[in-house]
Amino acid sequence: MTEPIINGVPASSSLPSGVPVSDAPAAPAVNADAEQVGEPAVVESVAAARGPLALEAVGLGRDFKLGRGQVLHAARNVSFGLYRGAVVALVGESGSGKSTVAKLLAGQERPTHGSVRLEGKPVDVGSSRRFRQYKRQVQYVFQDPFSSLNPTHTVGYHLARPVKLHQPGVKDVKAAVIDLLELVRLTPAAQFVGKFPYELSGGQRQRVSFARALAAKPAVLLADEPVSMLDVSIRLEMLGLLNDLRSRLSLALLYITHDIASARYFADEVLVMYGGQIVERGPAEDVTQRPAHPYTQLLIASAPDPDDLGSVLKSANVGAGGGAARAGNVGPAAAGCPFSNRCPLAIDKCKQENPALQLLTPNRAAACWRLDVAASSLTDSVV
Ligand SMILES: Nc1ncnc2c1ncn2[C@@H]1O[C@H](COP(=O)(O)OP(=O)(O)O)[C@@H](O)[C@H]1O
Ligand code: SF4
Ligand SMILES: [Mg+2]
Repeated sequence: MTEPIINGVPASSSLPSGVPVSDAPAAPAVNADAEQVGEPAVVESVAAARGPLALEAVGLGRDFKLGRGQVLHAARNVSFGLYRGAVVALVGESGSGKSTVAKLLAGQERPTHGSVRLEGKPVDVGSSRRFRQYKRQVQYVFQDPFSSLNPTHTVGYHLARPVKLHQPGVKDVKAAVIDLLELVRLTPAAQFVGKFPYELSGGQRQRVSFARALAAKPAVLLADEPVSMLDVSIRLEMLGLLNDLRSRLSLALLYITHDIASARYFADEVLVMYGGQIVERGPAEDVTQRPAHPYTQLLIASAPDPDDLGSVLKSANVGAGGGAARAGNVGPAAAGCPFSNRCPLAIDKCKQENPALQLLTPNRAAACWRLDVAASSLTDSVV
C-alpha cells in the first residue's frame, strides 16, 4: 500500500467538522457564488454490474453558514449510487467534502439540497426510532480507530450492544459476538472478547470497528478513510479484509480516501471530489489510467504507486512538478471552477463559470471547460 499522496491542505480544512462555526478561524467560502453551469451528466455506473442499487445520493448538497453572510458549500450537487457487492471510492484531498457526503448518507447530517434514497425510497431519519432503523441498513465507520472505541469497555461489550440493539431475535449474543470477531479475522476470537481497546493494535481496533458496524447486518457500509491512520504495513491487509467482507456479505461499500492509488486497487468506480463537487467519475481503472480532469491528473501524478501508476505521468497534462502541484496549500477558488486557482489550464471562463459534469463515455464524466485539451484522447469520443 502506498503512503498518502496529498500534501496540499486547503486552508478551509483547518476547521474540524463539528467545531462551532463562530469559533472557527475565517475560512474561505467554497465556491461561494458559483452554481454549476449546465445540466449534470447522467452517468451509467459500472458498479451497477455487481448488484442492485442500495443507497443513492440525488443532487445532494450541504451548506454551512460561516457568518458575515458567507456560505460554505461543503457538498454540492452530488449524485451517485452504491450497489450491493460493489465498491465506490470517493477520493479527494482534505477539506474536499468527503466526510460531509458520508455523514449525509449516514443520516448524521441533513442535506440543504437534494435527497438520499435507500432502495429507491427517500430516507427519513426524523425520529430516533427511524434513525435506528436506518442504521440497521446503513453503517458508518470512522477514520480513527483510536477514539472510536470506549476505553472503559471490552471488545465483547462493544459488539454485544449492537447485536442486542439491531438483532433483538438473537438468543445467543455471545456466539454472535464470536462470529463477528471471526468475520473480521480477530482470532482466536475467544481471546479478544475480554480485551480492552488499549490492549489492541490500531489494526485490531479498526477490525473491532468493522465488526461493530457489521453487527447490524447492514446493506451499506460507509468507510471513511478506514486505513489512513493505520501503519502503512497493514493497510493493504485491511483493504483485503474489507474487500472480502464486501464480497461475502454483498455489501454496498463506499470507500473514502485521499489515496487514489488505493482506490484503483480496490474500487469498481471512482468519484473524484474537489471543493465540494464531484469533478470526475468513472470506472476505477479508466480514471486512474487515463484521468480526464486536471485535478485527477494532479492526484495521479503525485501518487507514488509502485504498480505502474507512473505511466499515467506520460499522458497527464499536469506533471508532478507542475504549477498545480506547487500551488500547495491553496483552497478551492471562491468563484468559477473550484480548481481554477490551481489549474495550469485555466482560462478566463474558468474563473467565472463553474462547469457541471459532462459525459465522456456512458460511464465516465468530468467537470471541466477544457476537456478537449485536458483529455484529448477521450474527447474524440465524447457522447
Ligand atoms: N459542521 C461544520 N461547520 C462548518 N464547516 C464544516 C463543518 N463540517 C465540515 N465543514 C467544512 O466543510 C468542508 C468539507 O469538510 P469535510 O467534508 O470534512 O472534508 P473531507 O472529509 O474531504 O476532509 C471543509 O471546509 C470543512 O471545514
Ligand atoms: S481547465 Fe478550467 S474548468 Fe478545467 S479544471 Fe482547469 S480551471 Fe477548471
Ligand atoms: Mg474527512
